[in-house]
Formats: sequence, structure tokens, C-alpha cells
Amino acid sequence: MTDYALLTEQLSALAADEPHWLPVLSNAAALLWESLADINWAGFYLMHRESLLLGPFQGKVACIRIPRGRGVCGTAVAEDKTQLVPDVHAFPGHIACDSASRSEIVVPLHSGGRVVGVLDIDSPREGRFTEADRRGLETFARRLEEVTAWGVL
Ligand code: SME
Repeated sequence: MTDYALLTEQLSALAADEPHWLPVLSNAAALLWESLADINWAGFYLMHRESLLLGPFQGKVACIRIPRGRGVCGTAVAEDKTQLVPDVHAFPGHIACDSASRSEIVVPLHSGGRVVGVLDIDSPREGRFTEADRRGLETFARRLEEVTAWGVL
């Protein structure tokens, strides 16, 4: 089981010196990538001109732009709600960036009351993410929102 309390504290430490979103999200992706078992992608999509644009990540090259409401990430934005998908093949409109992916979790991120992007983690194992992962990653996401200076580059 992942120690999300520890990961959340490590995130704060990483952001303490430099809160700019680019290094914070880059290091957050690396932190998750190193700490979670059985994953094949961990990273961020950020809202840009009404759709999601690929942000810092770890893993294979991925889709660059995802319209609001499309796929798991676009649905997380449209509903402003975490999407825990045990079997991506059963999710209507799932966007397969990597055919090895079998399960996925996507958590929306906010700034000033608006959705500014999503945290997306994929796994090659069906049913990889549990309710404990959802709670842990939502806690991680809330801390990320607090410690990050969102804004233009
Ligand atoms: N599967 C996602 C697309 C992003 S990749 O997994 C990195 C989706 O359906 O939104």
C-alpha cells in the first residue's frame, strides 16, 4: 500500500523552495512514478483554451490535447469529479494513449474555484486503483493545489 501521507509531505518539501507550477508538477509526476507500484503513466493535463493540454509526466509519449468531456480525463473535468476506472475497456470514450493500460484514476485540480487541470495515473493491471488510492490521491491533489503557484510561465 502506498504511503500517501508521506508522499504528500514530500510534495510540500519539493514545492517549498520554488512553487512555480512547472517544476512542482514535474517533480510531482516523478515522485508518483517512483512511489506507486504497477503503473505505466503518471502526470498532468492542464486546461488551455477550453481543452486539456499535455503537461509534465513520466511514462510513454501521450496524447497532446483532450477535449473537455472526452475520455476519462475530459470527463473528470466536465463532472469536476475523480474518475476511478477499474477497466478502461468498459469506459465509453476512453482514449488509449498506450494499449497496455488497463485501469486508470484521474483527479481534477483547482485554483481560484476553477478546474485548472487533472492528475492522471494509468496502470497495466485491471483494478489497480482502490478507494484507498482515491482518498490518498485526492489528499495529494488538495496539497498540490495549495503549494503550487498557478499562472503563466
Ligand atoms: N486515457 C486517458 C488519456 C490520457 S492517457 O491515459 C495518458 C483518457 O481517456 O482520458
